[in-house]
Amino acid sequence: MTASDPSQTTRRDILITSALPYANGPIHIGHLVEYIQTDIWARFQKLRGQNCWYVCADDAHGTPIMLKARAEGITPEALIARVAQEHKADFAAFRIGFDNYHSTHSEENRYCATLIYERNRDKGHVESRTIEQAFDPVEQMFLPDRFIKGECPKCGAADQYGDNCEACGASYSPAELKNPRSVVSGAVPEQRESEHLFFRLADFEPMLREWTRGGGLQAQVANKLDEWFDAGLKGWDISRDAPYFGFEIPDHPGKFFYVWLDAPIGYMASFKQLCESERGRAAGLDFDAFWGKDSAAELYHFIGKDIIYFHALFWPAMLHGADFRTPTAVFAHGFLTVDGQKMSKSRGTFIKARTYLDHLNPEYLRYYFAAKLGPGVDDIDLSLDDFQARVNADLVGKVVNIASRTAGFLTKRAGGRLAAELPEPALFEDFVAAGQSIAEAYERREFSRAVREIMALADRANQYIDEQAPWVVAKQDGQDAKLQGICTEGLNLFRLLIGWLKPILPGTAEAAERFLQIEPLTWADLATPLLDHAIAKFEPLMVRVEPAQVAAVLEASKEDLAAAGQPAGGQGADAGAAAATDHLAKDPIADTIDFETFAKVDLRIARIARAAPVEGADKLLQLTLDLGGETRNVFAGISKAYAPADLEGRLTVMVANLAPRKMRFGVSEGMVLAAGPGGKDLFILSPDAGAEPGMKVK
Ligand code: MSP
Ligand code: ZN
Repeated sequence: MTASDPSQTTRRDILITSALPYANGPIHIGHLVEYIQTDIWARFQKLRGQNCWYVCADDAHGTPIMLKARAEGITPEALIARVAQEHKADFAAFRIGFDNYHSTHSEENRYCATLIYERNRDKGHVESRTIEQAFDPVEQMFLPDRFIKGECPKCGAADQYGDNCEACGASYSPAELKNPRSVVSGAVPEQRESEHLFFRLADFEPMLREWTRGGGLQAQVANKLDEWFDAGLKGWDISRDAPYFGFEIPDHPGKFFYVWLDAPIGYMASFKQLCESERGRAAGLDFDAFWGKDSAAELYHFIGKDIIYFHALFWPAMLHGADFRTPTAVFAHGFLTVDGQKMSKSRGTFIKARTYLDHLNPEYLRYYFAAKLGPGVDDIDLSLDDFQARVNADLVGKVVNIASRTAGFLTKRAGGRLAAELPEPALFEDFVAAGQSIAEAYERREFSRAVREIMALADRANQYIDEQAPWVVAKQDGQDAKLQGICTEGLNLFRLLIGWLKPILPGTAEAAERFLQIEPLTWADLATPLLDHAIAKFEPLMVRVEPAQVAAVLEASKEDLAAAGQPAGGQGADAGAAAATDHLAKDPIADTIDFETFAKVDLRIARIARAAPVEGADKLLQLTLDLGGETRNVFAGISKAYAPADLEGRLTVMVANLAPRKMRFGVSEGMVLAAGPGGKDLFILSPDAGAEPGMKVK
């Protein structure tokens, strides 16, 4: 059950997955640790010629998604369709090379989830029990723990979730919370009884203990599992009451599968869709060959450390109970920090994939994560200074530099052709031999080691060029053949480095292949030098990261928050990288406030006297607001929704007593009110005819 020996020669059948991102929010750079890690491994396996497939999907079910759609006034189906488009576009831009990307809200998934449930049920692994649960009498719905807030029973901190206190760290049940309130309606929750279905996890203890020892888990993860075994395996609640966005349980109308039941089954569903696609059929992909009980294929799940319980206990048990194969291995990774701290909206380090892409080349981040990633579950830190330094020094300064130091001479002095022989074949062979260790590093997910070894070889290649000094040879008469030889050697070393970096830098590798005028490189191609061959004119394959670009990403990440109508740097802005909160819609409808608090907000009618774009901030408009005598300068994140000309002369509503806030572009002296999810879909408020600038809104 362990990962196979990379030196073996038979073609391996490999199915790889990344965890399915929730369909209620954008992809951020924390997520990307996982998708980049998985993609590098999948690309490596493909480059090595394995029959490797990489699938994923959106995780589309559950209460947070249902409530988010409701808050936006759209159906859950419309929400998940929109988010799926955004996720796919972000992944494509980062060159995450999924072979299929599906959704858990799909017929394939309904089919597989029902099958797995029914098989387990028929074997007696599902039992029904009545439980008491918090119920929102206004919304007429049962409330997940995270949708109840109140005062911590231990330390009294206000505004704590129903499962644990962020102030003192205590864990408790929602029933213990003091002054509990439903996050959805603000109502006081009641306790109500309901029948739930439980998956009897304890039935699988022997099987799970054996699976845990099978070598498919990292040591830290296996230890964690032992703790869970010692604590005793409890039944797992797999049903939820209506209203719920998910699959109705066939034999229990009004009850739905809990989102985490059908989420991992989404791996299967996505693969099933792939098998049934034209591409899958052409490749002869057979679902049972990968998922059947006796499958000889390898199955790997890449996940974050927060979701180990689901993947290392429930998932193999469910599969086993339904007569499917279990995973070959589950690979957990740690969490991303930025400059040593949790990602934070107020610091601008809660960076969305899209915001990053607006300013920086995705290859940089792929490289940086690779340089930091190992096979363990340690958190990884994105140090922004280190990020710039490494990308510039390693990729631009070392790797790309080899080509830029040699290609020009070939173009100018050798008709753009590589020589027919290498002047130093032994050096080339040394490099080729080093490829073995690099492959082993990739196979073991020791990407940081692979990068270190590749960069040490890049240093050697540069050293060779320094010693040979082609720029000196170029000035000597009758030395054109020697010059061509040196540059041929240099470019062949460059080609090896690019081949090894290809899983990490697919975009740069593609550009290098165009420059070298070669077919897409495979690992096996690398052993043979490229000789007597015409190359294209060299274009810089990658440019340096500029500090201003990184600053712009941070600034734009703060701006996103301003556009959402929350002051940057304000309290409660830290979203936290902890996935426990990550996957829950934060307060879809805010807690109630008392009248005095409301009365403090000075809302006024304002006339938009002038609206102008803000250079360097494409979401913002600079508004001059006339309050009937007094004017205010306000920056509003509404430029995707309104052209300045559409606004000038209009009346709207502003918060007039907001403390002035210094932004990069100037001081913002208030805020205009707008509704909607953001981007193009933002709607500023307009008063009825008769309202005058300066009037107080009561
Ligand atoms: N929908 C579930 C997974 C279901 S898998 C059958 C989920 N979604 S998620 O969107 O919250 O996270 C998706 C993956 O990204 C998870 O593996 C999670 O651990 C990972 N990460 C989310 N935030 C992260 C960081 N800040 N850092 C590193 N990985 C993180 O969980
Ligand atoms: Zn507390």
